[in-house]
Amino acid sequence: MPPDKMTGPFALFDEWFAEARASEPNDPEAMALATAGAAGNPSVRMVLLKGHGPDGFVFYTNQRSRKGEELAANPRAALLFHWKSLRRQVRIEGAVTIVACEETDAYFASRSRDSQLGAWASHQSWTLPDRAEFERRYEEMRARFEGEDVPRPPHWGGFRVIPENIEFWTDRPHRLHERRLFSRGAHGWTESLLYP
Ligand SMILES: Cc1cc2nc3c(=O)[nH]c(=O)nc-3n(C[C@H](O)[C@H](O)[C@H](O)COP(=O)(O)O)c2cc1C
Repeated sequence: MPPDKMTGPFALFDEWFAEARASEPNDPEAMALATAGAAGNPSVRMVLLKGHGPDGFVFYTNQRSRKGEELAANPRAALLFHWKSLRRQVRIEGAVTIVACEETDAYFASRSRDSQLGAWASHQSWTLPDRAEFERRYEEMRARFEGEDVPRPPHWGGFRVIPENIEFWTDRPHRLHERRLFSRGAHGWTESLLYP
């Protein structure tokens, strides 16, 4: 049966994500994020999925970090979930946009005060002379925002990966795995199978 033109692969993603939440020992929302800057050198790291749906897959970070700089130069990314307890992986590829300010502010406001202060204190991905320097900056931010709400740092925000391809991989005996690829075209989503 062809995938629904509107919901495409998203209903299946929701189903798998719910199963991962129920079965993974920790961080079912952890995903590898691959980026490549202008020179085309790939880099990969883990981030947490903080929102998803037909609009895309959202994560938050420091926009002056290595990933932030690479996405500014080349706004395309790949995401990978590997849910070991289920023996499943999901691969997502697409263009990347910046999450709107209101949505970002709402998420930042929901974080603990300590992580809000950490976002101010950390020059993510930059060289840190020693741990004490980071702790000093953290204390400095704590004093700076004493008695008031911590505002979102201007360099901290969200990225949304708008999927063009989503592949669902299921482990099968004898490495005869199942791979279902959903691709977004001009007329909606299509589904095909890939050799394992
Ligand atoms: C399970 C897990 C989840 C993480 N989630 C995030 C996240 O949501 N945002 C983030 O900026 N870094 C997150 N990190 C840290 C990143 O992997 C990475 O160390 C950091 O963002 C710097 O990456 P960069 O130098 O490539 O920009 C996470 C690490 C792990 C292991």
